[in-house]
Amino acid sequence: MAFWKVDMQKNDQVILLDKNKIEKYLQYSPIDLEILHEVGSTNDYLKHRPNDKKIKICIAEKQTQGRGRLGRAWHSPFGQNIYFSMRYHFDKNMSELPGLSLVAALAVCRAIFACTSFNEMKIKWPNDILIGHEKIAGILIDMQSDARDTCCAIIGIGINVNMKEVRDNYINQAWNSLSLILQRDIDRNSLSSYLINSLMRYLEIFSVKGFSYFMDEWRGKDYLLGQSIQVMSGDNSFSGVVAGINMQGHLLLEMPDKTIKAFSAGDTSILK
Ligand code: BTN
Repeated sequence: MAFWKVDMQKNDQVILLDKNKIEKYLQYSPIDLEILHEVGSTNDYLKHRPNDKKIKICIAEKQTQGRGRLGRAWHSPFGQNIYFSMRYHFDKNMSELPGLSLVAALAVCRAIFACTSFNEMKIKWPNDILIGHEKIAGILIDMQSDARDTCCAIIGIGINVNMKEVRDNYINQAWNSLSLILQRDIDRNSLSSYLINSLMRYLEIFSVKGFSYFMDEWRGKDYLLGQSIQVMSGDNSFSGVVAGINMQGHLLLEMPDKTIKAFSAGDTSILK
């Protein structure tokens, strides 16, 4: 962790999440919003709530079992960040939703911009949100297939908002937070309202028009384009130069033999 991360004076006054404040600025209804003091994982919590096809959201002050992608843990200390999950119903088969996680990442960037006027976020495929080369937010989507041609996505979003330091090197990747970058604390209630409004808007458009509608916006946020990277896909590793993504949101890698290989999932890292 860089030393400057603890330079900023710590503001010990925590403003807690407040359902009324968040709901006041919502542009969509009905939305079933729950604020939790502490939970294992907001994604797991929603997974076990009755599924009545309504939009259901929970935001927690703290997670004790916060989950990241690929079996990693997500650091979730009390009162500092946003740990958010939304259950969203699609009248489509799961196989018809390629690009969903990329669209969710675009919606998060949009919400951060709307709330802070800061717009330097990039997205590292598939959905790590970075400022510079450091991660400030991540997305974990769990899918539930409820009938033949419908499904539910539990869209889990973690945003490092007011976190200033992490003890014991708990996060083993380069991280940052909005407050450290902007040198002021961010109102988590306001950011939560923006996040819900932004996600609702992006998901509605995505349901109707699919991922192709967002291609231009993605290009403007693509962190990996033109970079030499390594992709870990299952037990295999591939190296090449990123040629962008296709209409399904799959990553396109130009291999050393100049062929293009598409990846629907994987973990990416830039080669030095
Ligand atoms: C990643 O980048 O690895 C994904 C991180 C996702 C973290 C969020 S926090 C809210 C939701 N609940 C979880 O357990 N994980 C997601």
